[in-house]
Amino acid sequence: MRLVLVGPPASGKGTQADRLTDRFRVPKISTGDMLRAARAAGTTLGKEAETFMTAGKLVPDQVVIGLVDERLDHDDAKPGFILDGFPRTVPQAEALGALLEKRGTPLQYVLQIDVSRELLVERATLRRIDKRSGQIYHLKYNPPPPGAELDHRADDQEETVKRRLDEYDAMTAALLPFYEKLGLLRRVDGVGTPDEVTARILSELER
Ligand code: AP5
Repeated sequence: MRLVLVGPPASGKGTQADRLTDRFRVPKISTGDMLRAARAAGTTLGKEAETFMTAGKLVPDQVVIGLVDERLDHDDAKPGFILDGFPRTVPQAEALGALLEKRGTPLQYVLQIDVSRELLVERATLRRIDKRSGQIYHLKYNPPPPGAELDHRADDQEETVKRRLDEYDAMTAALLPFYEKLGLLRRVDGVGTPDEVTARILSELER
């Protein structure tokens, strides 16, 4: 299973990637998670990324391409992967193509999750993440258990979410025709319960 999940901020990529990871026994590779981990560890890369992330902007292509190149060499990624939030620009998609060609493991699917803008803002601003397990919750749609220690992402403030959505339209939407031309793109309606969305994804992958 070599799959890319594409979709605007808070469309449910991380939630669905976690479920697909369990089902297909391949790792989730999330550039957002990797960058947040680097930031929390205070590395040079993390500090460089922070300025862009806090502003709701994309981190430079070369930084994320380097992270993914290194991550794909880990043993757990040999049988496949679910890429969540990478690629996000056409140059990143071209670089991913080259990285996979070098390894003889071409991409199989690119799955686009569609959700309307108003819902995306609500999903992002009410998202909370368990600090210990990384489990993704939502205060309205998937409330955390009592006593959970929760993180509220700095870039989930409403104004930053709107800038991230604009950045998606400006930089990432161009990936859709790119992958359509390659015959890899599948689309899934991301509105409904997480179970409903997972069922749609699985039926799309089986089609
Ligand atoms: P990243 O962490 O990748 O953020 P994102 O793409 O903006 O996506 P999100 O994590 O916000 O949302 P998601 O689609 O995973 O939704 P989730 O499942 O959590 O990137 C952050 C930043 O890092 C970027 O802005 C950029 O600066 C940088 N970056 C990362 N990758 C980069 C790259 N490749 N190039 C350059 N820069 C990069 O769900 C959201 C909420 O909705 C949750 O609360 C969840 O519980 C809830 N929810 C999920 N599904 C449903 C459902 N079906 N119904 C109701 N609620 C739902």
